[in-house]
Amino acid sequence: MRGYVLSRYGKAMELREVPKPVAGPGEVLIRVHAAGLNTIDYRSRDGAMRMITRLDLPIVAGSELSGVAEAVGTGVTRVAVGDRVCTRVDKMKLGAFAEYATVDENLVARMPDRLDFAQAAGVPLAGLAALQALRDELAVKQGDRVFISGGAGGVGTFAIQLAKWMGAEVTTTASPRGEELVKSLGADRVIDYTKQKVADVPGGYDGVLDLVGGEDLAGNFGIVKRGATVVTLVGMPEPTTARKDLGAGRALTVLFWLISAKSRRQARRHGVRYRFLFMHASGTDLELLAKLVEDGLLKVVLDRTFEFDQIADAFAYLETGRAKGKVVVKVP
Ligand SMILES: NC(=O)c1ccc[n+]([C@@H]2O[C@H](COP(=O)([O-])OP(=O)(O)OC[C@H]3O[C@@H](n4cnc5c(N)ncnc54)[C@H](OP(=O)(O)O)[C@@H]3O)[C@@H](O)[C@H]2O)c1
Repeated sequence: MRGYVLSRYGKAMELREVPKPVAGPGEVLIRVHAAGLNTIDYRSRDGAMRMITRLDLPIVAGSELSGVAEAVGTGVTRVAVGDRVCTRVDKMKLGAFAEYATVDENLVARMPDRLDFAQAAGVPLAGLAALQALRDELAVKQGDRVFISGGAGGVGTFAIQLAKWMGAEVTTTASPRGEELVKSLGADRVIDYTKQKVADVPGGYDGVLDLVGGEDLAGNFGIVKRGATVVTLVGMPEPTTARKDLGAGRALTVLFWLISAKSRRQARRHGVRYRFLFMHASGTDLELLAKLVEDGLLKVVLDRTFEFDQIADAFAYLETGRAKGKVVVKVP
């Protein structure tokens, strides 16, 4: 089969002939129809994620996909041959940018009937990251005021809708290019980040989901209530990231404690909790997202789809940082 192989950090992924995988016990063999692109894919390619996920190179790259279950290994009960499925694959094993992939059945969900493969491939990573940040870290509830920086991108377009579904009032940042989109997804208030700094936004929020980092993250600490949480997907990982998200040992915990010192200090000064979430793959959470899509409560915003052999162009587009929603490649 053909797959995009990352053979060395800093080098482009190459389309190569690689062995077709075989479903082991508890695994599903998926004929891939589409794969979503994410910033983690090019950061991994560039070696920027080495501290968090040290991949066993060479590896078939790609973090999320949709397709049809072609075979199941022994003991599989959640998925049947012929099911249309989507998944955020294991972060160490990867393999979505290929014609076939094997995935642990516990990471897989049946894709919503109302979606085509390209749309379904855009759900897993961004959707799960948004859900887990809002539900597990911010514990968003009816009536909360939630601030989401970077609402127009892959994660933000899910986060706005999920926060609204949880009953929150949502403020988000976007440029004029993304304003109409974020409003259409339910944002109650839009801050034009090209004109106003986050630090100058009137405060009192019950929680912040930061998808931008840098100056925005620093500004976030001043706009939430004391005792509230700023969860970032972009800033510096901290000790809980190592322990809870990565199951790592003492060495990484200490390293993350050191590199997050500045953000934790800023948070402390405002009486706020700082948390860097590294999302986790979960078939159960993905089923919840699929149900919301099926019920018409969650839309998938696709910016552009590319052909499989145009993945370099797809990455060039994603890496501009201007995508509105998700970027996906179709696998022939
Ligand atoms: N920790 C985790 O588990 C995890 C999981 C998923 C994603 N992430 C991270 O989360 C971040 C967001 O991911 P994504 O997939 O949503 O990225 P993305 O799709 O590439 O985001 C692009 C969008 O961001 C907007 N944007 C750019 N600069 C902005 C700013 N200063 N303020 C507000 N909006 C801005 C752009 O709008 P304009 O073009 O209109 O400016 C564009 O629509 C990335 O850094 C990614 O690595 C982390």
